[in-house]
Amino acid sequence: MQTVSEAAIRRCLNTSVFGKAMVVEPVLASTNTTARELAKQGAPEGTAVVADMQTAGRGTRSRSFFSPRGGVYLSVILRPCEAQGSLITSCAAVAVARAIERLCPLRVEIKWVNDLYVSGRKLCGILTEAGLDPVTGRLDYVVLGIGVNVASIQFPPELETLATSLGNEGCAVDRNALIAAILNEWERAYSTIDSGDFLDESRRRSCVLGKRVTVRRGDEIYVATAADINERGHLLVRRDSGETEVLVSGEVSVRL
Ligand code: BTN
Repeated sequence: MQTVSEAAIRRCLNTSVFGKAMVVEPVLASTNTTARELAKQGAPEGTAVVADMQTAGRGTRSRSFFSPRGGVYLSVILRPCEAQGSLITSCAAVAVARAIERLCPLRVEIKWVNDLYVSGRKLCGILTEAGLDPVTGRLDYVVLGIGVNVASIQFPPELETLATSLGNEGCAVDRNALIAAILNEWERAYSTIDSGDFLDESRRRSCVLGKRVTVRRGDEIYVATAADINERGHLLVRRDSGETEVLVSGEVSVRL
């Protein structure tokens, strides 16, 4: 298995901001944690942090993210305005799906809002974390981390029926080319984030829309039908009472 390297990523990179500054390490606890430290020290938008493996990979809702050698673990520092908040994860999800499909003959679906699925199993997770300016309390940075299962692997028993990898789906991919493809697609999509142009694609790729979903919001748990994704990237669900609720990422987990 080839290792990840800055030189090999740069050979396929055609961005002007994403990955212009790059840190590539054989092992990190979490690329998101390192990127947050760099962001606090003033690292510019687009700074990318990549690791060959993570020893303490983090997922949403304080879960851990299985991060053995052979996956893609990539975090990028963004310095968006507050209004772009909810669109950032949806935009990245569409970009990563496009990048994977450029390199593999697979159909990548999005499970709102931060998971990518292939053949009904999770292939990729996205963790978006915001940092506030301690003086003004305003949004200072966002670190968005992407983990893609790439190598053929035997997942631990608790993930065996839930997760997949590109290798397990029959697609051998050069991780450096995939990292560059993600950065290329993502910079292109992110440069037009205010237009929300990617939202139609996000709806088309959704494996949630039209399905019955279990919504967990605080202490409340209910079943509803996923009806639409609105122009802010929020999920609209229709309760059996006919009422429509707007779900904002981070507030809910959706179970199919
Ligand atoms: C999830 O599935 O809940 C989100 C997983 C996000 C994993 C990526 S891997 C790169 C970055 N570093 C981390 O610690 N987490 C994200």
